[in-house]
Amino acid sequence: MSSFWAAWVIFLVCFNLGVTFFLFLWAPRAKVPTLPDGTTGHVWANGTLREGMAPLPRWWIAISLAGFLAGFTYLALFPGLGNFEGALQWTSRGELAADAKANQALRDAATAGFAERPVEQLATNPKALAMGEVVYRDNCAACHGRTGKGNPALGAPRLDDDDWLYGSSGEAILASVTDGRHGVMPPWGEPLGEEGVVNVAHYVLAFSGATHDATRAAAGKESFATLCAACHGSEGKGNQGVGAPNLSDNTWLYAGDLDGVMQSIRDGRSGSMPAWSARLDPTALRLVAAYAYSLSRGGPAAQR
Ligand code: HEC
Ligand code: HEC
Repeated sequence: MSSFWAAWVIFLVCFNLGVTFFLFLWAPRAKVPTLPDGTTGHVWANGTLREGMAPLPRWWIAISLAGFLAGFTYLALFPGLGNFEGALQWTSRGELAADAKANQALRDAATAGFAERPVEQLATNPKALAMGEVVYRDNCAACHGRTGKGNPALGAPRLDDDDWLYGSSGEAILASVTDGRHGVMPPWGEPLGEEGVVNVAHYVLAFSGATHDATRAAAGKESFATLCAACHGSEGKGNQGVGAPNLSDNTWLYAGDLDGVMQSIRDGRSGSMPAWSARLDPTALRLVAAYAYSLSRGGPAAQR
């Protein structure tokens, strides 16, 4: 606050409090002329009512005095007079910082010893899993589903099966969560042409034994070997180094019907998993990774 506004606030507070305090001191002592019959002489309602004089009740004086004392004490202790900080030097910012510190201390005590433990080990610790579940619900469930069933519309994989884009170890899961993942499947509509897309799609469906047209699949074989095998492997088993999904199992990141597979091939796909290192502290990252790990291993979390 500039010193002008500080002075203005001080003036307003002192003026208002001063005037009301003066009235409070003055009113009980004020001499109001009274007539011998005890009234003030004011006549109301066509002469039927006369205004009497009664002293201020004691309870009213006591409550008002207490109110003034509380007000003066407050202004002495807390900020209220312009830039004056008050004797206690209290600030809302300071209180927030103290609360945050106390919360952090509570969390540190609750997670002591979790920070450096391997994800696999944390996944067997019920307390760690319970905390990881809270982090998961708050940050991950929106995309991966409350029970880890995934969301094909976003390309968010299931976390409750044993099919992994980037690896199933605790370290791989922790890396996915910490740094995020960005799967890039280029669009092949142009180089292949619509016929080519249909043929390769049938070839892809053949990997998992899904219904397909064998003639078309045979026609798509060569394109797959030249354009796709580098990432998905010649048998379509995928490649965890680039997050290329296994095409030979019956689990689909996006869709496993002919139309869906054709769309993946024609337009490409690029699922994006945000990096959580900026939002979660290292211990929370480990706890939520342990929770994700346990989901796929039928741990306590997955059975609920
Ligand atoms: C905005 C949606 C979104 C949110 C929120 C999100 N994810 Fe993901 N996650 C994805 C997508 C999409 C992928 C797949 C990335 C790819 O295709 O490369 C993914 C991939 C992963 C993987 C790798 C899976 C595998 O098969 O290798 C893990 C593990 C994972 N997420 C865990 C989490 C956890 C834990 C959280 C919460 C801290 C979280 N995700 C929050 C969208 C999300
Ligand atoms: C540069 C590496 C790369 C190449 C080359 C590539 N893909 Fe992919 N493909 C990926 C990645 C990565 C994904 C996962 C995309 C994501 O995470 O959003 C993917 C996803 C897919 C999917 C969706 C799978 C699902 O579970 O829904 C299909 C189908 C597919 N690719 C087929 C092909 C075909 C057919 C070709 C060749 C014409 C091909 N890919 C070439 C990397 C590649």
